[in-house]
Amino acid sequence: MRLFITGVFVRAARNARLTRGGSQSIPASIPAPPRARWASTSTTGSGPFSPYRSKPSKASVDATTPESRFLDHLQNDAEDKKIVTSADGLSGVRILNQAFVFDETSNASPSILDLVGRELYNNPNHPICITRRLIESVFNHPTYKNHVATNPVVTVKDNFDVLGFPKDHPGRSRTDTYYIDSTHVLRTHTSAHQHAAFEYMGKNPEVGYTICADVYRRDSIDRSHFPVFHQMEGAHLWAMPEPLNEKELRYSRQERRYNKILSDLKALPQPKLMVVDPIQSHNNETNPIQVNHDPKECEAICEHLQRSLEILVAKVFTAAKDAGVGNVGDDPIKVRWIEAYFPFTSPSYELEVWWQGEWLEILGCGVTQQSILNNAGLSDRIGWAWGIGIERLAMLLFGIPDIRLFWSKDDRFLSQFKAGEIRSFAPFSKYPTCYKDVAFWLPKTSPSASPISGSPSSSGSGSSSTGVAAAAGGDATKSPADANLSTAFHENDFMEIVRDVAGPLAEDVRLVDEYVNRKTGRKSLCYRINYRSLERTLTNEEVNKLHEDVKKRLVDEFEVTIR
Ligand code: DAH
Repeated sequence: MRLFITGVFVRAARNARLTRGGSQSIPASIPAPPRARWASTSTTGSGPFSPYRSKPSKASVDATTPESRFLDHLQNDAEDKKIVTSADGLSGVRILNQAFVFDETSNASPSILDLVGRELYNNPNHPICITRRLIESVFNHPTYKNHVATNPVVTVKDNFDVLGFPKDHPGRSRTDTYYIDSTHVLRTHTSAHQHAAFEYMGKNPEVGYTICADVYRRDSIDRSHFPVFHQMEGAHLWAMPEPLNEKELRYSRQERRYNKILSDLKALPQPKLMVVDPIQSHNNETNPIQVNHDPKECEAICEHLQRSLEILVAKVFTAAKDAGVGNVGDDPIKVRWIEAYFPFTSPSYELEVWWQGEWLEILGCGVTQQSILNNAGLSDRIGWAWGIGIERLAMLLFGIPDIRLFWSKDDRFLSQFKAGEIRSFAPFSKYPTCYKDVAFWLPKTSPSASPISGSPSSSGSGSSSTGVAAAAGGDATKSPADANLSTAFHENDFMEIVRDVAGPLAEDVRLVDEYVNRKTGRKSLCYRINYRSLERTLTNEEVNKLHEDVKKRLVDEFEVTIR
């Protein structure tokens, strides 16, 4: 399982120094072109969050190459989000009006591309949008500008590099992330827009923002994990005040900035909840205050950050309690702060809420790395940022039991929600489940390096989250099928096949058995796939056909031997 919260994972990864290779295989549905990578020439983007900073000059693209002709074809004639293959073996896709030619890195499957552009967060009567609005009601105008970022294709630079992700971070692996080509991914988190949002802030009056968007991670299959989910990102910055006169020293201006943070903190209401084991000091070796930050200013920012998020949690969980969801009675809402690690904040924290008998991770946050602000032209500002998974909050606000429901077009689901209303979801009848096992021998292959940066990457497999999830993905908790025998097979690749074949009809996929034959050294795995529709009863025939297709793809793409 991919860990839900970034910090834990990154710490584990740092300690364990992952050495597994990522999968090399490319799903059969996307023929890999034999050429080197190709850069898109499209230039349109969504608002301030366009992944395209500059338009490649016409001169740099030779219009006579097969690639450029194919790109033109994709741009002008192709159906959006449909993978196209050219006569000379190139393949590519146009996504929301931007054309891409695939390269050896591409791994975005048709079933994932199909979900791009639904904009659930823009449908006022959808639980994702209702939850987004609830969050925005806490972080609202005029302090915060509320954005959505409709185009999920971002550059590797924005998703990872500018945020300080190390080159060998597991989140970069093709087993965890959907690559459109070697320089573009389907964003794995809303933090991919941090840089653009900070640049936008430099030119606009607001001191904070929120961004809501769909995010994508290759992952395992169960009721709380889906390869597309929604996140919201927020930030608040304080600028150095203008000098009062020519003689005013920087120190004194910074003192006034500090006082402004304190007065903003004082102006925040006191939320009705109980903070268990409050963090006493924000400075220690494992979670340090940045060297260029004044400790007392950083302390004040942390307090403002934590108070702001406690207000959010109090609002959301009170709404859930008032709607009678979860049967939690009259107990006070309890939260606790945990130290964390994110490449883009320090110090960093996670917030957990006590809900129905367990601690639930809700969000990650921290004091923004000064280098990120400097790179966005905001070197005299300082502040905090957070990221929240919307599905997790929405599931608990509305009592929605299965994450696939958010994507349902069934009126029995959609008609239950209304803008501004929180009420408990009434499940419509539950259709029978049908499980089928698939057992197979893995091929005895030699270890292979990851195509990403040529470095070993891969994480374990597993569930991102209904929520904030490991900063941009990656997981160290589960090994690939076998680190030595068969690095070419990664569980997430198996999950991807199941998703591609069965789509939302796959409810749950679990490894139920594994062993190594001592004589041959080959490893056998057995997965159990639970097929169930949320909307109707599946016929035996239909399930058998799905299962046969899964097996066939498995054999074709991984050269396994079905047992
Ligand atoms: N991007 C992080 C994730 O997906 C969440 C996050 C953590 C966002 C800390 C932030 C932040 O802006 O400051 O796990």
